[in-house]
Amino acid sequence: MEYLLLLLFFSLCTTSTSSSSSHLPDHFFKSNRIQNASSPAEYLEVTKPLFFDHIKPSCTLLLLQHDFAYTYGLPPASTLYAPPSDCPGPWTHIVLQFYATCKGEQYDRIVGIWLDGVEILRTSTPEPTESGIFWKVRKDVTRYSSLLSRSNLTLTVMLENIVSQVFTGIYHVNVSLLYYNGEEAQARIPVEPLGFISELKPQLGIKIKEELLDEKNADLIIPVCSDGGNDGFWFRIQNEKDVHFKQIQIPMNSYKVVLEIYVSFHGNDEFWYSNPPDSYIELNHLTTPRGNGAFRQVFVTIDGVFAGFVMPFPVIFTGGINPLFWEPVVAIGAFDLPSYDLDLSPFLGLLLDGKSHSFGIGVTDSIPFWLVDANLHLWLDSSSPTVMAKSVMSKVSAFNVKRKSKFQNLDGKFQIDSERKIEFSGWVNSSIGNLTTYTSHEFKFKNKIKFKNHGQFKEVEQKIKVKTEVKVESDTGEPLTRKTIKRKYPLHVQTSTVPGLENNTDLLITNVSHVLYEKHSFRSSRVDLSRSVSNNQVCGGWMVVQDHSVLSGDASTDQTLVYKDEAGCYSRTIFASSGKVLRNNSTLGCTSSL
Ligand SMILES: *[C@@H]1O[C@H](CO)[C@@H](O)[C@H](O)[C@H]1NC(C)=O
Ligand SMILES: *[C@@H]1O[C@H](CO)[C@@H](O)[C@H](O)[C@H]1NC(C)=O
Ligand SMILES: *[C@@H]1O[C@H](CO)[C@@H](O)[C@H](O)[C@H]1NC(C)=O
Ligand SMILES: *[C@@H]1O[C@H](CO)[C@@H](O)[C@H](O)[C@H]1NC(C)=O
Ligand SMILES: *[C@@H]1O[C@H](CO)[C@@H](O)[C@H](O)[C@H]1NC(C)=O
Ligand SMILES: *[C@@H]1O[C@H](CO)[C@@H](O)[C@H](O)[C@H]1NC(C)=O
Ligand SMILES: *[C@@H]1O[C@H](CO)[C@@H](O)[C@H](O)[C@H]1NC(C)=O
Ligand SMILES: *[C@@H]1O[C@H](CO)[C@@H](O)[C@H](O)[C@H]1NC(C)=O
Ligand SMILES: *[C@@H]1O[C@H](CO)[C@@H](O)[C@H](O)[C@H]1NC(C)=O
Repeated sequence: MEYLLLLLFFSLCTTSTSSSSSHLPDHFFKSNRIQNASSPAEYLEVTKPLFFDHIKPSCTLLLLQHDFAYTYGLPPASTLYAPPSDCPGPWTHIVLQFYATCKGEQYDRIVGIWLDGVEILRTSTPEPTESGIFWKVRKDVTRYSSLLSRSNLTLTVMLENIVSQVFTGIYHVNVSLLYYNGEEAQARIPVEPLGFISELKPQLGIKIKEELLDEKNADLIIPVCSDGGNDGFWFRIQNEKDVHFKQIQIPMNSYKVVLEIYVSFHGNDEFWYSNPPDSYIELNHLTTPRGNGAFRQVFVTIDGVFAGFVMPFPVIFTGGINPLFWEPVVAIGAFDLPSYDLDLSPFLGLLLDGKSHSFGIGVTDSIPFWLVDANLHLWLDSSSPTVMAKSVMSKVSAFNVKRKSKFQNLDGKFQIDSERKIEFSGWVNSSIGNLTTYTSHEFKFKNKIKFKNHGQFKEVEQKIKVKTEVKVESDTGEPLTRKTIKRKYPLHVQTSTVPGLENNTDLLITNVSHVLYEKHSFRSSRVDLSRSVSNNQVCGGWMVVQDHSVLSGDASTDQTLVYKDEAGCYSRTIFASSGKVLRNNSTLGCTSSL
């Protein structure tokens, strides 16, 4: 994402470095010379549909309408929020809708939306065309209900844009909330793809309330974010040592705490998974600042002690690698960047002393720059002003990252392997019972980067597997619930560069394939539920570039999404080529081949 003014001018004003293909993948914008449509086109991200999508919301509230023109360096747009008075809750679901249009030539931009400093959406814009584009992002924000039922909160939307004679695109944005109420939304549950079915009943002679289930939303959400607000509420992380802290005091009757982390990577780390080690860059006298190897991890500390990590899914923005791949179907996660949950309940023994504690966020091996912040979701005991907790166990294996590097001049191979497991446990005695939470978190990481043909062929292969487990036991050691989340995100990028004969142009032939696979399981003595999503994109194409401008090209993207749960299966396939959707099919029920 071309984000900083300096960076932008730097990339435009310096002489072309395009003959050095080790700079790739890179970030480009589509020169309007190659565009040919006559009416505005809709851009889209293929995601699992919201199961209540076809139901009319009880009410719709337009929160903010803003034209993001030359907004670089300005404070974000903001407005006061209050829930709709003519449409009282409780609501079964709340959806945030981000609708935008843009016309002209423009880079893609990163966008953050916060309510009272709590981030509720991280999105990015597609690159527009001369005839204009429009798009809509709809996100289920029901988990922020406790916040959304409050009045007089500030809603903040940050979208830094630069408008000039070349970059003419102004982003026109409407942000709305859609409130869904009652039976109609519930009634659809048995026949539509959905999340977990709430039917865990009291058992084992212990009072297990719905508190233990996923669905109950937090009672209180506290942001772990930058105080300023004028630069957005995210922390800007420039390197590994640049850890950002926030002092937070949590209520003494908190019996469960989950940290939700939002993250995006920009500048020299936009394609961190393809960054070679510095030795390769230095010994070849390359000028690229995209280095420091290809391993990154977001980490969280509490009072300086390591408390968890996130391996981010490599979201590709619409100017990334080959912008023609992402029209009109954008990359997985580009419109709704995933956030990541860390259950920190085992740390309540430390946090419930009525004092403030320091929450830290950093990024291992990072180079400029990362935008990261987090939300603390807290569940409070309504029958008691205090609860008692103790942290019992903490096993944090040593961090090991194995790096292999072999190259001669511009050709060579680099490999990084890493894995780690961390475990924590602790009990909390509240009016729900004396419950012990055990969490474990493990990852396996493998990254291979290959250069051949005097650096003119580059291949990146990355595999990330993450498994998280949260078990809750009664004080007699009886297992009550067990939740696991498994994620896999393989990524494969191949680029061949053919330097042009004239005018400093290059021909790039590129393939990208990537997958976001996620499986959630929830088990108790009564129910055994699971849901999974597999979202797979395969792209191929060519383009002729001059500096960061795409002069000509052609590309196609083939995507398949399969969602499964107890209630059934949903699948969608879409194929786009030369900027047009040629195939678009969705079915309830999956064929065996999917
Ligand atoms: C551009 O539009 C013209 C006229 O509609 C058409 O003949 C031509 O094939 C189009 N070119 C591309 C690359 O789609
Ligand atoms: C809303 O917040 C502002 C600023 O925090 C405060 O001055 C004002 O009194 C509040 N209004 C209401 C109705 O709470
Ligand atoms: C955005 O909001 C304005 C003001 O209400 C409205 O005129 C316009 O139609 C909205 N655009 C869309 C696409 O909803
Ligand atoms: C556990 O919590 C319950 C409810 O708050 C309380 O009645 C009980 O005394 C607590 N047990 C201990 C040993 O503190
Ligand atoms: C809660 O349960 C744990 C584990 O069974 C036990 O060690 C602890 O003493 C209990 N706490 C209270 C307050 O009863
Ligand atoms: C190089 O640029 C010049 C001037 O813009 C143009 O006339 C010429 O056709 C270009 N050559 C190629 C191979 O694109
Ligand atoms: C790259 O994509 C093209 C389609 O654009 C395809 O024909 C080719 O087989 C792909 N190559 C690889 C190595 O996936
Ligand atoms: C898929 O959609 C296309 C149009 O988008 C249609 O022509 C085709 O018949 C559909 N295929 C199936 C298997 O439904
Ligand atoms: C593709 O199909 C989905 C579901 O059938 C539909 O909602 C959507 O409008 C279609 N999109 C395009 C670009 O054809």
